[in-house]
Amino acid sequence: MTEIGFDGRVAIVTGAGGGLGRQHALLMASRGARVVVNDVGGSVHGEGADRGPAQRVADEIAQAGGEAVPDTNSVATAEGGKAIVDHALEAFGQVDIVVNNAGILRDKTFHNLTPELLEPVLDVHLKGAFYVTQPAWVKMREQGYGRVINTTSQSGVLGNFGQANYGAAKMGLVGLTRVLALEGAKYNIKVNAIAPLARTRMTEDLMGDAVEKLRPELVSPVVAWLASQECSVSGEVFTVAAGRVARFFVGMTKGYFNPDLTVEDVADHLSEIRDETGYSVPASAGEETAFLFEMMSRFNAG
Ligand code: NAI
Repeated sequence: MTEIGFDGRVAIVTGAGGGLGRQHALLMASRGARVVVNDVGGSVHGEGADRGPAQRVADEIAQAGGEAVPDTNSVATAEGGKAIVDHALEAFGQVDIVVNNAGILRDKTFHNLTPELLEPVLDVHLKGAFYVTQPAWVKMREQGYGRVINTTSQSGVLGNFGQANYGAAKMGLVGLTRVLALEGAKYNIKVNAIAPLARTRMTEDLMGDAVEKLRPELVSPVVAWLASQECSVSGEVFTVAAGRVARFFVGMTKGYFNPDLTVEDVADHLSEIRDETGYSVPASAGEETAFLFEMMSRFNAG
């Protein structure tokens, strides 16, 4: 197979001063992408700021013969998002790829969650993806090409104790991915998400020895493929860890239908409602609605 490259492409990678984002930036830069290495350089809980991490990764790319600029704007405000995209346009004249990767943690069980623990998490993960992607999206539509990769998490897709704020933000990114995939289709903009698992400062205290095998650089090939011209999918979510790649999807059971549905019907038919045999995977809200209407018309005809 011909090697997948990024010659002529410009990528923004948020939170690229360390962990997963650094690996995504290094990999794409090593294959010809010009990269905006964005990172505020704060703590894992989102406190403080430091120009060092973004600068170091940009220097690392330059030393390896690549092209990169460091950027320390925060993704967590509309102004910050615009400034990051403006930086790409000033430095490189275009933007083709956005990898929304910046993230923080403020874990707490739900009954103890305060606005100070909720809002910054939503701001960085969920709203941050809006703030950075939207100004880039305008350019992507104009040029008829774009790739967006959002970073979701098992915590949202499957649930994780003590992460109501983080899980909700991460599942919000799945919704954003699905909608943007539909809106971007006619402009050759592909939007996908990854749910990674990797050893970074975010996870090193959580998983003990097993974490050693979860090298962050094993996540980046999936990001790079999704960011490439060769990417042939949109609106999908890939779980990626330690060299394994698989797809998460939303499946729908065949279900139970009764146009005069009662409360007791729900109780009596619960196993049929939940039965996974013959499930389908609707591609959009419209596809599910079409399925429902077809079932209704079959019922009326019968
Ligand atoms: P990390 O803490 O090493 O990297 C996150 C980076 O985002 C940091 O360098 C941080 O300075 C930067 N950042 C935080 N707030 C920012 C802001 N407002 N603007 C710009 N940059 C900001 O952690 P890691 O593990 O590399 O995380 C990367 C992404 O992957 C995050 O979105 C995280 O939630 C997600 N993730 C990671 C998993 C893992 O196993 N490491 C599991 C599931 C999701």
